[in-house]
Amino acid sequence: MSGIWGVIGGTGLSQLEGLQLTGESRPQTPWGEPSAPLVHGELAGQPVCFLARHGHPHTIPPHRVNYRANLWALRDAGVSRIIAVNAVGGIHADLPTGRFCVPDQLIDYTWGRPSTFYEDGLDEVVHVDFAEPYDASLRAGLLRAATELGISCRDGGVYAATQGPRLETAAEIRRLERDGADLVGMTGMPEAALARELGLAYACLALVVNPAAGKSTEVITMAAIEAVVKDGMQQVRSLLRALVAP
Ligand code: HPA
Repeated sequence: MSGIWGVIGGTGLSQLEGLQLTGESRPQTPWGEPSAPLVHGELAGQPVCFLARHGHPHTIPPHRVNYRANLWALRDAGVSRIIAVNAVGGIHADLPTGRFCVPDQLIDYTWGRPSTFYEDGLDEVVHVDFAEPYDASLRAGLLRAATELGISCRDGGVYAATQGPRLETAAEIRRLERDGADLVGMTGMPEAALARELGLAYACLALVVNPAAGKSTEVITMAAIEAVVKDGMQQVRSLLRALVAP
């Protein structure tokens, strides 16, 4: 697949170090402004457009991110394939803190977020196919990059998208587990669905930054999460470079 790579950086990745900068843009969209200026550059010689999901600095909470403007702006910038980087809580025993996962499914528990482009002024109602929410070839590319680099990464898993910004209760996590979820985050939706509505290939690279609520006796603190994120994001950069390299 050709076209510009898009990277949406989550918690801990509000800048993509190593990106050879070629410019910045502040696009307007029919849905408002994206979370931050788009950063244009090259990674391993390939054009990449980076967007900080929570703004730069990190100030926009998950339920306030303008997902529609973000996806629209990336598409308008010529992006055709997107890697979404997400910090998540690990539910499955196979997903300890520090491990990566490239999920293959998701369940949406968010509410009240503008979650479609097909709303007003329609000629007809549109229902996009979303049975497989992530792009198979991007997923394969991420997993190949992880193998090449010797980075431990789980192939597949069900991402539960929760509303936040608070973390879950232990009972909520038990419910998600019964539903079949393996990892939990707050930003995977509606982002993935909006990418699909625009015809953009989209995959999620998730880094487990804490055991989900009730999965460990320790209290989840932002300080502990930040420490994991700092190390993990170095690996994210290597993974992205290996992925896009021709
Ligand atoms: N729950 C939801 N979102 C998250 C978590 C979590 O435990 N960790 C990082 N993002």
